[in-house]
Amino acid sequence: MKARLKAAKGTHDLFPADAEKFAAVETVARRVFGSFGYGEIRTPTFESTELFARSVGETTDIVHKEMYTFPDRKGRSLTLRPENTAGVVRALVEKGIQEMPRPLRLWYTGSQFRYEQPQAGRYREFRQIGVELLGVPGPVGDAEVLGMLFAFLHALGFTDAVATINCIPRGPARAAFSKALQDHVRPHAARLGAEDLKRLEENPLRLFDSKDPEARPILEGAPKTLDFLDEASRAHHEALKELLVQGGVRFRESAAIVRGIDYYTLTVFEVASERLGAQNALLGGGRYDELVGELGGPPTPAVGFAIGEDRLVEAMTGDVREPRSLVFVIPDGPDEFVYALGVSNEIRGLLPEAIVESDYSGRGIGKGLGRAGQIARDPALHPFRVGAVHAVLLGSREREGDTVTMKDLTSGTQETFPRRELPERLAGRER
Ligand code: HAM
Repeated sequence: MKARLKAAKGTHDLFPADAEKFAAVETVARRVFGSFGYGEIRTPTFESTELFARSVGETTDIVHKEMYTFPDRKGRSLTLRPENTAGVVRALVEKGIQEMPRPLRLWYTGSQFRYEQPQAGRYREFRQIGVELLGVPGPVGDAEVLGMLFAFLHALGFTDAVATINCIPRGPARAAFSKALQDHVRPHAARLGAEDLKRLEENPLRLFDSKDPEARPILEGAPKTLDFLDEASRAHHEALKELLVQGGVRFRESAAIVRGIDYYTLTVFEVASERLGAQNALLGGGRYDELVGELGGPPTPAVGFAIGEDRLVEAMTGDVREPRSLVFVIPDGPDEFVYALGVSNEIRGLLPEAIVESDYSGRGIGKGLGRAGQIARDPALHPFRVGAVHAVLLGSREREGDTVTMKDLTSGTQETFPRRELPERLAGRER
């Protein structure tokens, strides 16, 4: 036998039972984000490598060691997107963002790729659901995005979510903070590994990303971003906190959140879930007021977030899908197949929300009923969220008399009636 092929390391298949959960979460996203006026955008899965180097940042872990970068047949350097904000901004600048009415409200879902060490909740291909709001400079923009995020999380049953927020200085204040951080860490440099030493010199903020346990105690007494904010930034942060309190968004502040991407300015936030390991954030986001300008567009303030959809689905306990009634149509044998096709289609027309599965195994009514009974006893065996379960049994008697025999698998009752009575017999059985 030939060796079997396996999915590439860090990737996973979604079979219907899982894929249906992802689709249900995306349906809720579309409904909630749509109610705030956010429309979906879909950008390419690969972009020029330069886009990520210029936006995410050369010295970040993502660009430095996690990207899937390859030359195409003409030698251009391309990269599978590690995140979607850069692609969205590139698309807007390319299309002429200066002509577009503001604000711009966008959301997206799709695969992202990072060459990380796979573990629970961490994959090399993973999915994000993200949101970007462009053109609102004040804290009210951050508040809209965070409020909408919490509306979405609540709709999925995450009623205990708490955001951790911080504010990163910009401009000269950022340079002053970086310098203070370097001054604090340098005396301990001998205890740092090569990677952190590089961060210390090139991009000291990135030290907060360090996974080295030696670095942690050094950073504990480090200067705090909040102490370096200029007047306007401090006012932005204070006003945002007020708005979050008013909007019922639960949050706490943490100086340790700087995020692993360079484009952030001012507000940054994360939400963790207790149901995931402490290492794994459910989502992250923040303000990036300079990115549009850096990618060649007009100065445009912006704020957004991205949720790890795989982590979100793993952490969910409830089922957001509507239950759907399941009808098994079971012809006794091949002679009843044509009759069963017609009856199945008729029931689909009468119950558009129901799932109508026809059994064409030709194994007879008894065997077909076995599977129906199994699903009725344990609905989780079915990839959809199943409500009531019925079987429609079609033998030669039914075919010849143009009747159907319907069995309610929950109560066990069974009745034979003329096929033309299907509409009234099925009324109200959608779920
Ligand atoms: P990020 O923090 O790099 O931000 O990623 C957001 C979320 O994606 C993380 O919190 C996590 O849930 C999920 N995620 C990241 N890496 C993996 C992985 N290897 N496996 C599974 N899930 C993962 C961004 O991507 C920014 N673009 C967010 C943003 C949008 N900021 C402003 N707008």
